[in-house]
Amino acid sequence: MSHHLELELKNAAKRLANTRKVTVLTGAGISVASGIRPFRGKGGLWEKYDPEVVVNIANFRRSPADAWLMLREIVGVIAVADPNPAHLAITMLQKMGLVRCIITQNVDGLHQKAGSREVVEFHGSTSRVVCLECNAIYPLADVDLGVVPPPCFNCGGLLKPDAVFFGEPIPPAALLRARVESQQCDAMLVIGTSGMVEPAASLPALARSSGALIIEVNPEPSWLTTTAVDIFLQGKAEEIMPLLLAEIEKG
Ligand code: APR
Repeated sequence: MSHHLELELKNAAKRLANTRKVTVLTGAGISVASGIRPFRGKGGLWEKYDPEVVVNIANFRRSPADAWLMLREIVGVIAVADPNPAHLAITMLQKMGLVRCIITQNVDGLHQKAGSREVVEFHGSTSRVVCLECNAIYPLADVDLGVVPPPCFNCGGLLKPDAVFFGEPIPPAALLRARVESQQCDAMLVIGTSGMVEPAASLPALARSSGALIIEVNPEPSWLTTTAVDIFLQGKAEEIMPLLLAEIEKG
């Protein structure tokens, strides 16, 4: 570990140790070590799939069978993924009373699998499917993906993963809660997001303008690093988060 990173870790731990109101904002980067590819950048899912085709609502309605053939592969990977040390460190910080809530752009449910509570699913979740005709919601596990598109058990309508597609709004309750938790926190930990997709990308600036300290964890500088971040911890979430937890525990 570089001397600079060591100092920044100690600095972040010291600033966090005295707060009881930390909001965590996570993106795809936190789940990379769980075997789920990020969207953008090297090795990103969007190198393989065009988001305008796979997760665009208009296209999904037009050709749901094609979209489901690709989605089936993605939800299959997510279904068998396990949380990694970064998710577990956040759960520990929550048990210690520091973290109040986790706003995640991820649809993989790994924060909940890691035992975290108060998780705001900003972009929904692929653990459920929703019927676009009657709005019924079912666990993905109950759906036979041998048939694409799978029909609604209730009305035969079109089922879609209950994740937010391009062209769809953020679930209103999640958006409201995320904004309140951003405005009311003392510090925000921003982990593994490129900060390129709105409105999630604006939450760190909202927190900062409300007086919060912003700490970012990412192996690469993001769009947020120079615009909204106070302390940048450069490294992989699965390595940095256990180190940060250990520093805080040292007291
Ligand atoms: N630890 C931490 N961060 C990592 C790691 C890692 N091991 N590996 C990669 N990253 C970082 C990358 O440097 C990048 O900044 O994670 C970020 C991933 O960025 P994106 O793929 O753009 O993911 P995200 O910011 O969550 O995307 C936002 O865009 O496609 C939509 O709805 C989708 O929720 C998603 C949203």
